[in-house]
Amino acid sequence: MVCALPHLIFLLFLLPFSVIAQPSNRNFTAGATLSAAINSSSWLSPSGDFAFGFRQIQDQVTFLLSIWYANIPDQTIVWYANKEKPAPAGSTVEIISDRGLVLKDPAGEELWVSEAIIGRVSYGLMNDTGNFQLISGVSEVLWETFQHPADTLLPTQVMDLGELLSSRRSENNFSTGRFQLHLQEDGNLVLSSINLPSSYSNEPYYASATNNDTNPSNAGKQLIFSESGYLYILKGNGQTFNLSDTPLNPTQDFFYRATLNFDGVFALYKLRKQFTGSENWLNIWSEPENICTTNVAAGSGTCGYNSVCRVNLDKRPTCECPRGYSLLDPNDPYGDCKPDFLLTCGLDEPYNRDLYDIVTVTNTDWPFSDYALLSPFTDDQCKEACMSDCMCAVSVFGEGNKCWKKRIPLSNGKLDRSVSRRTHIKVGKGKFICNTGKTVLI
Ligand SMILES: *[C@@H]1O[C@H](CO)[C@@H](O)[C@H](O)[C@H]1NC(C)=O
Ligand SMILES: *[C@@H]1O[C@H](CO)[C@@H](O)[C@H](O)[C@H]1NC(C)=O
Ligand SMILES: *[C@@H]1O[C@H](CO)[C@@H](O)[C@H](O)[C@H]1NC(C)=O
Ligand SMILES: *[C@@H]1O[C@H](CO)[C@@H](O)[C@H](O)[C@H]1NC(C)=O
Ligand SMILES: *[C@@H]1O[C@H](CO)[C@@H](O)[C@H](O)[C@H]1NC(C)=O
Ligand SMILES: *[C@@H]1O[C@H](CO)[C@@H](O)[C@H](O)[C@H]1NC(C)=O
Repeated sequence: MVCALPHLIFLLFLLPFSVIAQPSNRNFTAGATLSAAINSSSWLSPSGDFAFGFRQIQDQVTFLLSIWYANIPDQTIVWYANKEKPAPAGSTVEIISDRGLVLKDPAGEELWVSEAIIGRVSYGLMNDTGNFQLISGVSEVLWETFQHPADTLLPTQVMDLGELLSSRRSENNFSTGRFQLHLQEDGNLVLSSINLPSSYSNEPYYASATNNDTNPSNAGKQLIFSESGYLYILKGNGQTFNLSDTPLNPTQDFFYRATLNFDGVFALYKLRKQFTGSENWLNIWSEPENICTTNVAAGSGTCGYNSVCRVNLDKRPTCECPRGYSLLDPNDPYGDCKPDFLLTCGLDEPYNRDLYDIVTVTNTDWPFSDYALLSPFTDDQCKEACMSDCMCAVSVFGEGNKCWKKRIPLSNGKLDRSVSRRTHIKVGKGKFICNTGKTVLI
């Protein structure tokens, strides 16, 4: 009985806080916290469509502070905060009135903080639009996730000049990925690849051309995702540039989202709200139309080096290593491929063509990896030209009498019916393969 009294006081002290964190309460007042744990509670929007809280990520150990669709089976994540600093179990996020949202690990170290707040936060609100907002005592919005998008836009969300979406690294890895969508200061909306680990962006592989150098006041001002679920750019003179068509299905019946996928495809998706079990997000518009045949510029392309890209019906790519090559990282099917044999001019011994074979495929090309053009040449001469040249990894025959010799790393590889080429790939013969970079003669 001696212990009973302090225990009771402790309970009374905790009570108001735990009541605040209940999902049934739509307002999460300053001081409210959520903690990172398996099956931990989250803050739901009034309709229950969206949740704010912690989601466990790929490694099964760390958590991501995020917003997701709470009412659909795959609980698609639409916003995330601590992408470069995964939160271990026991981390907490708190609404602090003069700071906003503060995410700390169990040792008290800050992993992520929402931007500086002007004013005092009274409460947080998980809006039915999917926007988590911090609201002041006089109902001003002091901070909101819609102003700080990750890789996804939702209906009613607006992107202003200078803002961007950044793709994730892969479907389940949320660290900064290789692509971005940027509404440039000049009003042009562009998609470009990034040379990680720097932030250097390559020439765009898509541009809306909504800038106007002769009259900048006519240029694009905002990218708007309308309430009815279509994307357009609003220009300074009030005109609009439509990216997607007006959808036929009303927003009461469907969820819409626009996501810059990790493979560089920016796509608008819909999903029926009354989920019947077998449905999935349906692509209703995307850019580019075929990411494999689009030159995503400097770098490897959508797929890794030496890889070949093929676009699927859903406009998303599949990457495959050519015969004789395999993934550098077996866990990253979108990554680089390496030859399973030694492809060199030899350090000690002269080049021995008997150690190699040629595999011929069609509809395949790596358009930017040439080092020589031989013409006029026949297909047989083209094959032989690669076989007899120690530098050559691939030779490509096309346009009637042209032969391009190519070296590794091969980039922007594509497999598409529009590519009318015969492609001769040099591969190692059975007894000349290498393991972990070392030549093995079995
Ligand atoms: C949330 O809290 C504010 C301020 O206390 C109050 O004005 C508002 O009605 C509350 N909203 C809901 C949905 O409870
Ligand atoms: C989490 O919830 C699921 C489904 O309710 C349950 O099967 C699982 O055991 C729970 N895990 C933990 C660690 O509580
Ligand atoms: C959600 O946001 C919209 C648009 O800003 C606003 O009109 C609405 O009142 C918000 N919802 C709630 C429950 O406050
Ligand atoms: C995500 O990818 C990055 C970059 O490749 C890597 O450093 C990191 O370890 C990955 N994270 C997880 C959880 O696998
Ligand atoms: C740019 O603005 C000028 C002047 O208003 C207009 O004549 C021209 O058509 C615009 N160009 C584009 C590409 O919109
Ligand atoms: C853009 O879409 C809106 C809404 O569907 C439509 O009213 C308008 O005519 C379209 N504009 C163009 C240029 O297609």
